[in-house]
Amino acid sequence: MKTLEILTPEDKEGIDLPRLLEDEQNAAGKKKLYIESYGCQMNFSDSEIVASIMREKGYATTSSPEEADLVLLNTCAIRDNAEQKVRNRLSAFTGLKRRRPDTTIGVLGCMAERLKAKLLEEEKVVDMVVGPDAYRDLPRLLDEVETGQKAVNVFLSKEETYADIAPVRLNSNGVTAFISIMRGCDNMCSFCVVPFTRGRERSRDPHSIVAEARGLFEQGYREVTLLGQNVDSYKWEDEAAGTTVHFANLLEEVAQVHPDLRVRFSTSHPKDITDDVLHTMKRYDNVCNYIHLPAQSGNSRVLKLMNRTYDREWYLQKIDRIRAILGEECGISHDLIAGFCSETEEEHRDTLTLMDYVRFDYGYMFAYSERPGTPAAKKLADDIPEEVKKRRLNEIIALQQQHSLERNQQAIGKIHRVLVEGESKRSAEQLQGRNDQNKVVVFDRHLFRKGDYVNVRVTSCTAATLIGEAVLPA
Ligand code: SAH
Ligand code: SF4
Ligand code: F3S
Repeated sequence: MKTLEILTPEDKEGIDLPRLLEDEQNAAGKKKLYIESYGCQMNFSDSEIVASIMREKGYATTSSPEEADLVLLNTCAIRDNAEQKVRNRLSAFTGLKRRRPDTTIGVLGCMAERLKAKLLEEEKVVDMVVGPDAYRDLPRLLDEVETGQKAVNVFLSKEETYADIAPVRLNSNGVTAFISIMRGCDNMCSFCVVPFTRGRERSRDPHSIVAEARGLFEQGYREVTLLGQNVDSYKWEDEAAGTTVHFANLLEEVAQVHPDLRVRFSTSHPKDITDDVLHTMKRYDNVCNYIHLPAQSGNSRVLKLMNRTYDREWYLQKIDRIRAILGEECGISHDLIAGFCSETEEEHRDTLTLMDYVRFDYGYMFAYSERPGTPAAKKLADDIPEEVKKRRLNEIIALQQQHSLERNQQAIGKIHRVLVEGESKRSAEQLQGRNDQNKVVVFDRHLFRKGDYVNVRVTSCTAATLIGEAVLPA
């Protein structure tokens, strides 16, 4: 059996260790592809499109770079350390290239787009540089490499959504899957490299999205996460029907695929999330009660410098709105950046008080990392010393730990509907899954299996996990 694995960085997403992924029948004689992904869920989702394109070209997948004909790194450029990780990995491949000179090494994704052909000069081991909108060109680029040249395509498209490509599900538990609903980003948050690496925002045809969700349900999947940098600005003009499909409409259509198909989505932008979306979440039990709503800062002056186009009050009103419509129990998580340009101690404390007000269930927290070419890099001084950024970040993390624990404690004694994703990491006697609010729940196995919905009474918790017992039928 040949498998394809995706290694994950212990970056923001922290997905599981590599697992067996797919049965590759008849792999003998085929060329082999090894792919590793870094960064956000969209990148992981893109790797599934890449695997599909390469399968058409006759590539089977492998979990070992040593036996691969083609090694691909799908990279992230969001912070400097994300790029350093990739550079270290490329250095590690120098030995492999010496032993097996015929191995082609390609860099895909956001770092490829940011550095373009420069990457070929800086990292001699690289044969091929391919940006996020150029994956259909991979077979041609490979042919070019086979003739002894280096190949680059970093063209950004205004239309490409890969709508017609059926992703090869990688690293899959067979229960949960991602569906990209849009690409690119038209916001210009001053710190962010994504508009430069992913290009203009474009939405994918809703029919292809609903068809993909339906196909996944039929294959046994029980949860889909709709992905976009800013899902609330999803927009599709249905010319035949003379209507415009907004995110709330799309969410509703996907929710109607089947009541047993859970629907999640990410990321929501505080400036754009609408009451329509919140009401749709409320109307459908299978749309999960969980919102990832990046704040970035709790101070209005800093938010303005970040060009987030909302202020502290606006953000807090959105939180109030979420809780008014969906109740206190709705899970809410954040992204926060510590030590952005010129942030004072007092402004940092505004971030802490914003956290105190919301009491987020979970958060992704980062020290500001200046990215070349972004508006902030051009116009603002990265003037907060590293140790101050670290200290502020640690204060944010400590507070989040406390809030996560408190929010989890509120779940104790209640019954939660859990979708089982697999064995618990600690013990084969236990299963793990997530509840509606996206919290991980661990409980004794009994006769339950992956893909089952189980009612679990929560008995204890940590800041990261709820622990409980299945409520067995009498
Ligand atoms: N589209 C999403 C975020 C995508 S990037 C949104 O609008 O919220 C994921 C997170 O990385 C961001 O929310 C931000 O918190 C963080 N991030 C982005 N650029 C960064 C930088 N230059 N330094 C530190 N963190 C950054
Ligand atoms: Fe970056 Fe802002 Fe776009 Fe998110 S909304 S991807 S933070 S520019
Ligand atoms: Fe990274 Fe690109 Fe995603 S920069 S966070 S992989 S969009």
